[in-house]
Amino acid sequence: MIKNIQEEILRLKKEKNCCILAHSYVAKEITEIADFVGDSFQLSAAAEKVDNNMILFCGVHFMAETAKLLSPDKKVVLAAPQAGCPMAEQFTPEEVEAFRKEHPDYAVVSYINTTAALKCVTDVCVTSASALNVVGNMEEQNILFIPDINLGSYVKENFPEKNIVLWNGGCPIHGKMKAEDAIKAKKLHPDALLLVHPECPPEVCKEADYIGSTGGIMKYVDEHEHKEYIIGTEISIAELLSYKYPDRCFYPMHKGLICADMKETTLMDVYKALLGTGGLEIEMSKEYVEKASGCIRRMLELN
Ligand code: 13P
Ligand code: SF4
Repeated sequence: MIKNIQEEILRLKKEKNCCILAHSYVAKEITEIADFVGDSFQLSAAAEKVDNNMILFCGVHFMAETAKLLSPDKKVVLAAPQAGCPMAEQFTPEEVEAFRKEHPDYAVVSYINTTAALKCVTDVCVTSASALNVVGNMEEQNILFIPDINLGSYVKENFPEKNIVLWNGGCPIHGKMKAEDAIKAKKLHPDALLLVHPECPPEVCKEADYIGSTGGIMKYVDEHEHKEYIIGTEISIAELLSYKYPDRCFYPMHKGLICADMKETTLMDVYKALLGTGGLEIEMSKEYVEKASGCIRRMLELN
């Protein structure tokens, strides 16, 4: 049954001249039929280069918005309309504007996990993969970093010479990890290397052998021969790596590392979005695209 629907999706995708972009955290039956699978940075870079008429995004709302901002002339559809990232709405544009008024000498750096409205008041966006390069290449010394306090702390630690102000937001999934979770996993698997996402708190990152984005973690495994790994990010990554390297072992750091929003997208959502009976088309005026896309383009230039 799954295979039949996948085949029908592949047929419709061709007929509609559609490119399917999927974040690595979505279900495997979807990543199997996607044209491109990756982390937030890789997907932004891919969205900018798509030459199909339509982009069907399998992930969460801010990601489809980002694709629209980078490819405004394409039809961009989010397969599961209800899939959102809780972190994206933790602050409002008004709060950022108020900070700017009081601190005109600060640049606003936003994690890409923000709404398009927040991007309108942002100077530069970062993803977890690009944050160090982008902040390192910025001339500004005074930075407000929103919304993820954990990714922000990781950046701050790498640039002690910069004055980085953090606000207290973050990912409810990675952010609830504790040092004890990392220590417990390492005790259980003493020969394994611990690879963690910088959305995890600093005390978890301190236990890690490597800290990096989803794509960074996968690349680390590609480039090392080590046989056992504890994966400190969303559970799909341990699963994807297990399929890719069946002779190695990948243990999730914690069984609670499941993003319900990333699991919202079903194969039927993809099918219905292609049929035109489901999904959410992302629509924005030309002026809005101009206002909100500058910070993403600046990220691509500075990375
Ligand atoms: P990356 O895709 O940058 O690794 O971020 C993970 C994540 O939580 C996306 O929402
Ligand atoms: Fe948002 Fe966290 Fe889910 Fe990523 S894993 S979409 S940051 S809630």
